[in-house]
Amino acid sequence: MSLIEDAARRLEELRRAGAALPDDVQGSPRTAKPNGETPLPEALVAAMESKRAESGLLSGHAVHDRTPAADRPSARAVAAVDRLSARAPIRHIDLNLERLRTFGFVTPDVPTSQTADEFRVVKRPIIRNALGKADERVKHGNLVMVTSALPGEGKTFTSINLAMSVAMEYDSRVLLVDGDVAHPSMPSILGTPHAPGLLDLLTRDDIDVADALVKTNVERLTLLPAGSRQRRSTELLASEQMAALLRELSSRYPDRIIIFDSPPLLATTEARVLAAHMGQIVMVVAANATTQHAVQHALSTIENCDIVLMLLNKAGQTDVGTYYGSYGEEGAH
Ligand SMILES: Nc1ncnc2c1ncn2[C@@H]1O[C@H](COP(=O)(O)OP(=O)(O)O)[C@@H](O)[C@H]1O
Ligand SMILES: [Mg+2]
Repeated sequence: MSLIEDAARRLEELRRAGAALPDDVQGSPRTAKPNGETPLPEALVAAMESKRAESGLLSGHAVHDRTPAADRPSARAVAAVDRLSARAPIRHIDLNLERLRTFGFVTPDVPTSQTADEFRVVKRPIIRNALGKADERVKHGNLVMVTSALPGEGKTFTSINLAMSVAMEYDSRVLLVDGDVAHPSMPSILGTPHAPGLLDLLTRDDIDVADALVKTNVERLTLLPAGSRQRRSTELLASEQMAALLRELSSRYPDRIIIFDSPPLLATTEARVLAAHMGQIVMVVAANATTQHAVQHALSTIENCDIVLMLLNKAGQTDVGTYYGSYGEEGAH
């Protein structure tokens, strides 16, 4: 019996034994907030285009359809199945939606705003590629990496807004992963705990995936924090453990869009390895800031992903948000 068959059999046994498998998507009812007017940032999205790799990216870079060895079952993936089958308490936090609005974020209690409208446009192709009809779906389309060439271009801003926007869809569920593990943003912006999270899942066998997830008061939005920092946190993003976890998340949650707030492509080589496992990549380009050369260079580092969506972010046009810190050398705790 193969490892996967073995894992499937074990799951079936658990089900027959009456064990409820963890379901982190049952968010509690969202908290109603007063619909007070809050200042919104300037327009976010000016343009977005989806390019199949075959048609060439901006740099003319061709993306190869090399199916990674990643599709082979691994002991780690099976371990993840085991972990998913375990019952475990799942954390919950109430996001401060009013505070998020002051940072310029989309929140479900104020569904109409300029930013909300813009992200409504942005999310459409992403949802279609991930969850659309069979002929619209792309391989691992529910794994969505939000990245950019350099720090400070709006990856986190985009990730959170995209996640909020997708969660506001009636039948879309979303898992937002704090994947810029050297510079996690969720704790300061969303108030999430640092750990356990992604890095813990990659380095420890004694915690369940469900232990690392954080439900929120935004229905259908679940978070995965970055986790306990290690000396070489970012390197773990390029590990086989990460590849196995991605495969597992993608297949265990096929009806959920998993959004990765990620490190910049030109700052770390690991981000490029991570990109190779993704079904879709959202490349944030900061208007009037990212140079054409940087965009082309960043695009040229992407391999193995057919869908690259360009998002022009008019960052820096407002004074919202103070959470961004400089992208320095990564250090250990
Ligand atoms: N469209 C936007 N409108 C207003 N402020 C923005 C916008 N995009 C980014 N920012 C601000 O710019 C700073 C850097 O953005 P951030 O998303 O943290 O960048 P990154 O994650 O790429 O390093 C933050 O303070 C954020 O609030
Ligand atoms: Mg960030």
